[in-house]
Amino acid sequence: MPHLKLANIRACVFDAYGTLFDVNSAAEQVQDALGDKWRPLAEMWRTKQLQYTWLRSLTGRHADFWQVTGDALDFSLACFNLTDAHLRNRLMDLYLQLRPYPEVENTLATLKARGLQCAILSNGSAGMLSSAVGNAGIGNLLDAVLSVDDAGIFKPHPSVYQMAVDRFDVKPSEICFISSNGWDAFSAKAFGFHVVWCNRFAQPAERIPDVPDAEITNLSALPDLVGTP
Ligand code: LAC
Repeated sequence: MPHLKLANIRACVFDAYGTLFDVNSAAEQVQDALGDKWRPLAEMWRTKQLQYTWLRSLTGRHADFWQVTGDALDFSLACFNLTDAHLRNRLMDLYLQLRPYPEVENTLATLKARGLQCAILSNGSAGMLSSAVGNAGIGNLLDAVLSVDDAGIFKPHPSVYQMAVDRFDVKPSEICFISSNGWDAFSAKAFGFHVVWCNRFAQPAERIPDVPDAEITNLSALPDLVGTP
């Protein structure tokens, strides 16, 4: 994948979960109860959460991301024979305060200093995003926090990506979209954004059409890739 300077970018729009916030950090903080199961549980929780977003979108049965996240946790806890309601509540509460990746704040501050608009565009419900952003202390660095709540369908439906175009009143190619989720990055490229795939977990390229413009391993490499008008 080429590393090039993306020209004429007016806004940097970030995926939230996995990109700005560490989705494994909830289960990681419950190791006292989960022991060695914390990581496989976290991975199953995330996988089912995403599957449920796609299934709900395909079947026209939208529910907000809080509901989907709880359903995915219930499925995962059942798989591990964990039935403690208190454990479920702890994990859900911690999902509202996921740890931001260490480079997030500096990256946003650098982009803002260069005159770029910055935003989140996420499957997260408005309440979940507001909580995570507040907990990370990055609200002052974001011009918008866009939730799929307003589209009534999850990524990668094009109407979700269109929300960022409408919010900033720019062409899709004037947005640099950043996601650590390969499926999201490749789908956002299909929509028409410039896309940087923050491939934190050294995943192979997705076998779906449309390849992101650039690939980085964490967000600190992002500002050097983005060219302003
Ligand atoms: C989001 C999920 C897909 O934040 O990570 O939209």
